Amino acid sequence: MKGDIGVIGLAVMGQNLILNMNDKGFKVVAFNRTTSKVDEFLNGAAKGTNIIGAHSLQELVDKLEKPRKIMLMVRAGSVVDEFIAQLVPYLEEGDIIIDGGNSNYPDTNRRCEELAAKGLRFIGAGVSGGEEGARHGPSIMPGGHFSSWEHVKPIFQAISAKTPDGEPCCDWVGDNGAGHFVKMVHNGIEYGDMQLICEAYQFMKDGLGMSYDEMHEAFKAWKKTELNSYLIDISTDILAFKDTDGTPLVEKILDTAGQKGTGKWTGINALDMGIPLTLISESVFARCVSSFKEQRVAASKLFTHTAEKISGDRAEWLEALRLSLLASKIISYTQGFMLMHEASKTFNWNLNYGNTALLWREGCIIRSVFLGNIRDAYINNPQLTWLAEDEYFRNILQNALPSWRKVVAKSVEAAIPMPCMTAAITFLDGYTSARLPANLLQAQRDYFGAHTYERTDKPRGEFFHTNWTGRGGDTASSTYQV
Ligand code: 6PG
Repeated sequence: MKGDIGVIGLAVMGQNLILNMNDKGFKVVAFNRTTSKVDEFLNGAAKGTNIIGAHSLQELVDKLEKPRKIMLMVRAGSVVDEFIAQLVPYLEEGDIIIDGGNSNYPDTNRRCEELAAKGLRFIGAGVSGGEEGARHGPSIMPGGHFSSWEHVKPIFQAISAKTPDGEPCCDWVGDNGAGHFVKMVHNGIEYGDMQLICEAYQFMKDGLGMSYDEMHEAFKAWKKTELNSYLIDISTDILAFKDTDGTPLVEKILDTAGQKGTGKWTGINALDMGIPLTLISESVFARCVSSFKEQRVAASKLFTHTAEKISGDRAEWLEALRLSLLASKIISYTQGFMLMHEASKTFNWNLNYGNTALLWREGCIIRSVFLGNIRDAYINNPQLTWLAEDEYFRNILQNALPSWRKVVAKSVEAAIPMPCMTAAITFLDGYTSARLPANLLQAQRDYFGAHTYERTDKPRGEFFHTNWTGRGGDTASSTYQV
């Protein structure tokens, strides 16, 4: 009997996905460029399973049922192109290549086009959940050539995480790079959620002067609220984790954040598409600032500020902080969904937002109860412009607002940088302002460059220029939007 699917790449994610597929009754053919890894895998984690090894691409292809389904679990970027180029000569019309890495969606768009021209089918699938997820149920976000979906659907939906109602956290996302775009936004949101939690941690530690045990208890209590999520869970564990000397390990970890690029891509796309993705962008910049460790240490000596301890009732501050985190999260997801909406329009992807929330409900890094509420909101109104149009989220924001303002204002007074919580409240204030100071901005543009402006007492679309100084001419420059 031939294999149902081939997997190339036996790093931890690849191995775990293969074991997961095997558990669900699929026959998997495993290949790795360094072929000794295939034998190590077969004699190690895969021993006693139905997993088959292949020591060349020819062997891999020969051992697969047609149309062949071959999943690449290799590093995003040129390695994916290299494997595709090597595989193509062995494949036949209708065969399917799946890229399960964190690829940048324009690459997926391009690969779809190139492979279609060769009569082959391509899927770019975002896979989230880390090693645990890959082994026991990831969230999977496939997009690409739709005709290939029916062939991989039974495998992907079987291995994916399930919601509490038993629905698979895997469904078709859209054409071409749609799956990888949605995974990119997932990662951007992941960056935002992580930074928000870090801001709450610093407020507790430096502002409220809490010990690690106290912070652990506070986070543990948050798990029982609307904040219940995987990232809060692991942060709760991390705060309690002690090094061999019995002190908190996290305190000994160097405060410089790494990043592999997906958050940055989310921010770049937001700028390109004109979407104010302020919170996620700030979370990327917060990682950049953190990476300037030596500069920060030097600057801290030049410009000393000591975070002032925050006085007042601790329990009250903690509740205010919890509400600030929750409200900021609503803004972050609102901005992320705005970005997906714009991309969907631009690329004709017809994204289903309720479904996207469902894909993220379990299995992935941002999994949370909160995503179930987002799903409900989009089921009630698929056309939501922003989450506060939904009563549940509007009530949370309204209820949180006084505490949220207090926390953000206090963080500025106490010299605790909270770029994401601040960005979130600033966005809310701007987005809910019927009038902003952009009238002055338009006047400035017209003053120095004759860029024209529209008037409040004239219909939209009519543009005016004023000779502000009497020295400039009456000729306006052309009006266009980027
Ligand atoms: C996931 C994660 C995964 C990876 C991130 C890490 O969904 O399982 O997002 O894809 O851990 O890419 O990203 P950074 O290294 O940029 O933090």
